[in-house]
Amino acid sequence: MSEGLVTASYIGATILFILTLGGLSNQETARRGNIYGIIGMTLAIVATVFGPEVSGTMSYILIAVMMGVGGAVGFTLARKVEMTQMPELVAILHSLVGLAAVLVGYVNFMDETISFATHAEKVIHEVEIYIGILIGAITFSGSIIAFGKLSGKIGGNPLLLPARHFLNLGLLIATIWLCTVFVHQAETGGGTLPLLIMTLIALAFGVHMVMAIGGADMPVVVSMLNSYSGWAASATGFMLSNDLLIVVGALVGSSGAILSYIMCRAMNRNFISVIAGGFGTTSGTAASGSAEDQGEVVAIETHDVAELLLDAKEVMIIPGYGMAVAQAQHTVHEITQTLRDKKINVRFGIHPVAGRMPGHMNVLLAEAKVPYDIVYEMDEINDDFPDIDVSIIIGANDIVNPSALDDPNSPIAGMPVMECWKGKTTIVLKRGMATGYAGVQNPLFFKENTRMYFGDAKESLDAVLKEIL
Ligand code: TAP
Repeated sequence: MSEGLVTASYIGATILFILTLGGLSNQETARRGNIYGIIGMTLAIVATVFGPEVSGTMSYILIAVMMGVGGAVGFTLARKVEMTQMPELVAILHSLVGLAAVLVGYVNFMDETISFATHAEKVIHEVEIYIGILIGAITFSGSIIAFGKLSGKIGGNPLLLPARHFLNLGLLIATIWLCTVFVHQAETGGGTLPLLIMTLIALAFGVHMVMAIGGADMPVVVSMLNSYSGWAASATGFMLSNDLLIVVGALVGSSGAILSYIMCRAMNRNFISVIAGGFGTTSGTAASGSAEDQGEVVAIETHDVAELLLDAKEVMIIPGYGMAVAQAQHTVHEITQTLRDKKINVRFGIHPVAGRMPGHMNVLLAEAKVPYDIVYEMDEINDDFPDIDVSIIIGANDIVNPSALDDPNSPIAGMPVMECWKGKTTIVLKRGMATGYAGVQNPLFFKENTRMYFGDAKESLDAVLKEIL
């Protein structure tokens, strides 16, 4: 394939990736966006593999074997992974982007065949290598820790070392100093030692950065590492002089950064204080107030849930992580359909951090074919609760916790939540009285107009569906 054709393919792929991002911004166009992405990626791979950079039968055999192995692992993982494990999978995939950037950096550093027209070009290339390895190593170790935290292998409690901000500042200064040493030594063919020391510092920094972030801030960490993986890919693009990789990396990096900003806003948190760490405690433990402190809960049975729903005019469904665990989305859709057929207005309210990854609930509802036009973002419907007859909370906890608004000492204080208690009746579906991800007890369960419908969300909703049919 000629250089011109490769360039044209790269431009085509870039346009397709931009269209992908545009498509993914809306549920109705998301499928189309994905298709653009698939075509763009195929075009990019074909143009790169058959471009002038690759030559010789051995190279093609190697690429084919590697693509076969990588593809088989990816295919098996994607088929096996449960929806609830998606955030962990995403985190571990980010770590691979970081690792790739580190490896490409070292290979580039050791490659003696690269020649430069000017001294300035050589220095720029060395700085590219240094920055690429730096970002890659932070992304790699940070993503592995995020994987550990999201999968529960590492506790959610923030690790707060004494003088940690000074430690981070010290590491930053050391990294900048090592860069000057590296560039200086590379003049005479050296530089391995400063590069290795910087890699170790960057790995340690990645671990420390994510370990210091508390459980409640994990949504921001997921999107932040997404952004880092983009910048790591972009840095790799600079090292390899591959324009497409630079552009695609920048697209991923900047969209991840925007998502981090949106997540921070959704949780009423400042990005700097997220990075500084220490917000929220481990999952599954009561951090503020035990169940006994707050009074009695009132349980409800299937028949009464069905009656409340059939008597309602306005129903709001608020799904959370438990709906993903129970895989209840299809039954939720059937109940919605049945109620709508009976002229009951059913809407969905989606909190930006519901579940365990951005857009988690939207994906599940789209999979179950819930119509998009009845699915609303929190900001769009939070004022409507006084007019709601019945709100059904399906396996959600933190996102409907009034203490975020009332209790300044709550670990989730300040996070906007779905104010469902302002409606007539709230029905909460969960298995027991366990806390949610942030580990805080929920006063909603003890409110006068709340009814607890205990059990696995799928089994409970199947029973309700039978009653209302
Ligand atoms: P959570 O606060 O985690 O609450 C989920 C609830 O679902 C639990 O209290 C659990 O109670 C219940 N549950 C679990 N399995 C169930 C089942 N099979 N049937 C019925 N109920 C079940 O979820 P949320 O309200 O969606 O809030 C999300 C939390 O995750 C926030 O704190 C957010 O910051 C955090 N987070 C979000 C993200 C992103 S990007 N969205 C990423 C990381 C962390 P029982 O055990 O008693 O049933």
